[in-house]
Amino acid sequence: MKPACIFDLDGVIVDTAKYHYLAWKRLANSLGFDFTEHDNEQLKGVSRVESLKLILRLGGKQLDDAEFDAALVRKNGWYLEYIQQIGPEEILPGAAEFLTSVRAQGIKVALGSASKNAVLILERIQLLDQFDAIVDGNKVSKAKPDPEVFLKAAEELAVPASACIVFEDAVAGVQAARNAGMKVVGIGSAAVLDQAHFVLPNFAGLSIADVLARFA
Ligand code: G6P
Ligand code: MG
Repeated sequence: MKPACIFDLDGVIVDTAKYHYLAWKRLANSLGFDFTEHDNEQLKGVSRVESLKLILRLGGKQLDDAEFDAALVRKNGWYLEYIQQIGPEEILPGAAEFLTSVRAQGIKVALGSASKNAVLILERIQLLDQFDAIVDGNKVSKAKPDPEVFLKAAEELAVPASACIVFEDAVAGVQAARNAGMKVVGIGSAAVLDQAHFVLPNFAGLSIADVLARFA
């Protein structure tokens, strides 16, 4: 069975994780508490709503429903402001070349991201046409580590979960891939992503043949 590749977006294909962090930190500060990069690890890969719940728990703060919704809108407004200027130069090292190597093998490619801004970002970095299926935050109702986003991506590609290889930078995302019964390559720190089958710092110099050899 030919494998398929499912890519997370933020922190895997494009360097937007830092802008999510800045926007959440700004929100936390506006609510009267701080939010560190260490805290931010828990938010990577987690949906907007679940992220805000986590942040409020960390800050020991409660918001009523209207304030909660307003905070979500504020965070996304700041985030959109930060990413307004992004372009292909924010593609992470080797990611575009890696995608090309995958497609050259005739291997199907899906996006599996919690972000509701995914299509906008893929358009800006000019990679939208590299994906056979896009499953983003607008298509799922359960946040990672729930496997829904990756199972939907496999379904859209018509490939069984066991043949899918997921690329993830987030603890919750690695867990979601595991929960989907998929293979998972961590992108980032091996100490953080210890549940991945193996971890790479990024895609620089890497081709799909190298990854398939690791799983052979
Ligand atoms: C990705 C990021 C998270 C972000 C989530 C929702 O998974 O890693 O940090 O909270 O998407 O993104 P959105 O663009 O919809 O706020
Ligand atoms: Mg990510």
